[in-house]
Amino acid sequence: IFSGHNLTIYYTKVEKNGIANIGKCLDSLYLSKEKLLQISSLMLENMKKGLGKDTNPTATVKMLPTYVRATPDRTEKGEFLALDLGGTNFRVLRVKVEEKNVEMESEIYAIPQEIMLGTGTQLFDHIAQCLSQFLDKHYIIKKTLSLGFTFSFPCKQIDLQKSILISWTKGFCSGVEGEDVVLLLRDAICNRGDYDIDVIAVVNDTVGTMISYGYDDPKCEIGLIVGTGSSACYMEEICNIDLIEGNEGRMCINMEWGAFGDDGVLSDIQTEFDLEVDRLSLNPGKQTFEKMISGMYMGEIVRLILVQLANQHLLFNGITTPALMTKGKFETKNVSEIEDNTCGLAKAKDILCNLNLDPSDQDCIIVKQICSAVSTRSANLCTAGLASIVNHIQETRGLDNLKTSVGVDGTVYKKHPKYLRRLPQFLQQKLAPDCDVNFILSEDGSGKGAATVTAVAYQLAEQRCQIDETLVSFKLSSDQLVDIKQKMRAEMEKGLTKETYLNASVKMLPTFVRTIPDGSDKERGNYLVLELGDTNFQVLFVTIEGKESGAKIENKTYLISEEVMHGRGEELFDKIVDCIDEFLKLLLGFIFSFPCRLTGLDKGILINWTKGFKASSCEGEDVVMLLQEAIDRRPDVHCDVVAIVNDTVGIMMACGYEEPNCEVGLIVGTGSNACYMEEMKNIETVEGDEGRMCINMEWGAFRDDGCIDEFITQFDRIVDECSVNAGKQRYEKLMSGMYLGEIVRNILNFAEKGILFCGQVSEQLKTKDVFETKFLSQIESDRLVLLQVRSILQDLGLDSNCDGRIIVKEACHTVSQRAAQLCGAAVAAVVEKIRENRSLDHLVSAVTVGVDGSLFKLHPHFSFAIKYTVKELAPQCDVSFLLSQNGAGKGVALITAMACKIRETGHL
Ligand code: BG6
Ligand code: GLC
Ligand code: GLC
Repeated sequence: IFSGHNLTIYYTKVEKNGIANIGKCLDSLYLSKEKLLQISSLMLENMKKGLGKDTNPTATVKMLPTYVRATPDRTEKGEFLALDLGGTNFRVLRVKVEEKNVEMESEIYAIPQEIMLGTGTQLFDHIAQCLSQFLDKHYIIKKTLSLGFTFSFPCKQIDLQKSILISWTKGFCSGVEGEDVVLLLRDAICNRGDYDIDVIAVVNDTVGTMISYGYDDPKCEIGLIVGTGSSACYMEEICNIDLIEGNEGRMCINMEWGAFGDDGVLSDIQTEFDLEVDRLSLNPGKQTFEKMISGMYMGEIVRLILVQLANQHLLFNGITTPALMTKGKFETKNVSEIEDNTCGLAKAKDILCNLNLDPSDQDCIIVKQICSAVSTRSANLCTAGLASIVNHIQETRGLDNLKTSVGVDGTVYKKHPKYLRRLPQFLQQKLAPDCDVNFILSEDGSGKGAATVTAVAYQLAEQRCQIDETLVSFKLSSDQLVDIKQKMRAEMEKGLTKETYLNASVKMLPTFVRTIPDGSDKERGNYLVLELGDTNFQVLFVTIEGKESGAKIENKTYLISEEVMHGRGEELFDKIVDCIDEFLKLLLGFIFSFPCRLTGLDKGILINWTKGFKASSCEGEDVVMLLQEAIDRRPDVHCDVVAIVNDTVGIMMACGYEEPNCEVGLIVGTGSNACYMEEMKNIETVEGDEGRMCINMEWGAFRDDGCIDEFITQFDRIVDECSVNAGKQRYEKLMSGMYLGEIVRNILNFAEKGILFCGQVSEQLKTKDVFETKFLSQIESDRLVLLQVRSILQDLGLDSNCDGRIIVKEACHTVSQRAAQLCGAAVAAVVEKIRENRSLDHLVSAVTVGVDGSLFKLHPHFSFAIKYTVKELAPQCDVSFLLSQNGAGKGVALITAMACKIRETGHL
């Protein structure tokens, strides 16, 4: 034994078969390099299994997401309390995180055995009591204190503040599995009532350790504990974590590697002593790997070996004492002490004498060898686990050489004389030669890390409060939606009634379309259809060949510039005629998606422009005439405008061609509107009581009279005020594609003042319409989220962190959810009206709603939310939705056919 200055040589005299027996025992603990490589690749396999969504439930290594997304950047600040539960000592700490400096004070409190094995309530009450004692002792009286909780057991975290205990490990067994430990702690603190403490974040000790060291070394991306228990954590790419949404950035994974081998994959290296240790433990069959490595069990393994060798008369003259026979009497710290060469054999002798044994020098040497074999195996296994992590990181980052740091803590690592050296040596020499791994140890423990995470979580919580306050005004309750639906119903009535229709906000415009297509011969023909409704102007050439062959559509899209949109009406219509120039003389149907009061199929007075148009001298005029006049100004174009149709009506007709139940047409695109088949007897604004007529509701103008202003947010008001038609189409402005991006832009602009993007100001975000509604669809799409958000925000000149991006996503969701609900409430009002028209309790033969519009088609959740709301608000109606395949063109061609028939014969 070489103690530094003296080399002492001891002789051992053992019988031949005695040597064989001791040798056998030592051999069973020996792990070759090949075996370790095999264990390391098995661990890697299990890690991947734990990261996969489908394979996770059966994985032993649970790979738990921690919601810690970054190592510290030293901007964290504040004064926090921290609790450290699960290691040898339970500690309460006060941590001051300042710029680039951390100050800590702490006290250790005992947790009596009966509490560790008692109920959850007893344990958490005890913790709360220790916390109060600490605050009393340190005279800490602050109104509200924030606390970070290091809780070193396997937990399924929902976020930084919610952590569900999966199972107890190590010496604890206090029930409450499946419960949120943060809530349990909050309750216990609250029940005492003496201090106002908010538990802000919960972390595992591996994570706390990684973050503690990460504060000083930014390369520290792995945390390792070899103490009472053993586990590791590391920063994993989010794209590899199936259980976490998104593709970008990293998140710390708490591996819980202690459970590796619980499925039997390590049975070939488990010795009879490991099996016995497991049998005598609080959790037999569980934490197989941990039981071969960690401080809670190493002493026990040595004790069981000593008992066997004594029984075989190979130690202590064959004498076993009651102390040696008692579980826990030989501790892991004794292993460390015995292996410390500075005191020769003296310490071994002392320890064995304390067990009432009378050891010879030879006994002491053998005991020392056994301790060394057990602790070497532990260090070897730890290294194998660590090798799988560094090799995995190296592989996923595609690096030839990985340079990284591991923050390590735990009494075994710290107190054992050789551990500090063994781990780096084994890793470099045997298992991960291509990685340059730096091991860092400090005496601080995980408290600093827990406080740092708390500082981040605290900042997030503050942001959360502000964003919640901002978004709450967008959230509509069921009662509010019912109220809106009823008000819409009342407005519909007002729009249909002779005395009131002129003042109604929902115009309920007769369309003179009285039937849904029946596919008969009279509908055949070639038609030219024009569609004006947003900046894309379309010319369609539609051939209707009868029900079987369907319709053929050729179309061409032209852009209407803002100059034309806002110029003279005459120019607008001339531009339109330019576009039809290339078509033959045909009968023409005009999809004109603006509110028009029709007096026949081919005569429609534009009431007012909507959706950004404001061409002059058109409002109050017959648009069919304006178009016909423009055509007539051009001797080369020969067309007869025979019908004017709103896009909703075109969609209803187009879908009606496929599905005869289709009696409602809905558009959720740049604008939003609906039409439906109403009984003539209810339409007081048109002569006659027989049959039905399609009504273009123009619901976009609902609430122009202020009837639902109580649901309107400050952001809606800004969007309205800055639009070209302030005070008009105020319902549409809450829910259609032209405005949703603007609402979100205004929220972000507001949020920017402090709570988002670290208070940066983006000049670009101040520009109207830069945040397009299509971004909402992209941002809310499930898979690519955060990556998309980042690049969209970057284009807007905003550098966002992960949390900022999550908030942006949430703002988009809140706005689009409300839009879909409002649209659903209006659809519910319509189908209810249809049901009442038919005097039915239940509208069973489903009403089909023909739909079109970019928002409905492209947004990932919009259509679902509309359908859900309709179901909730109109439970007595069976409603189905049919998405139009080719837009309204076909429907309008059919109406054009009808119009021709009427022209020719005076009736249909
Ligand atoms: C301490 C950390 O230093 O080490 C704890 O602060 C951790 O969070 C502990 O649980 C692990 O080691 P041991 O040996 O005390 O279990
Ligand atoms: C046990 C716990 C784990 C902890 C480790 C080290 O394995 O389950 O959460 O990290 O001990 O304390
Ligand atoms: C606007 C128009 C309306 C149209 C809707 C959908 O609300 O006023 O006529 O149907 O947009 O394009």
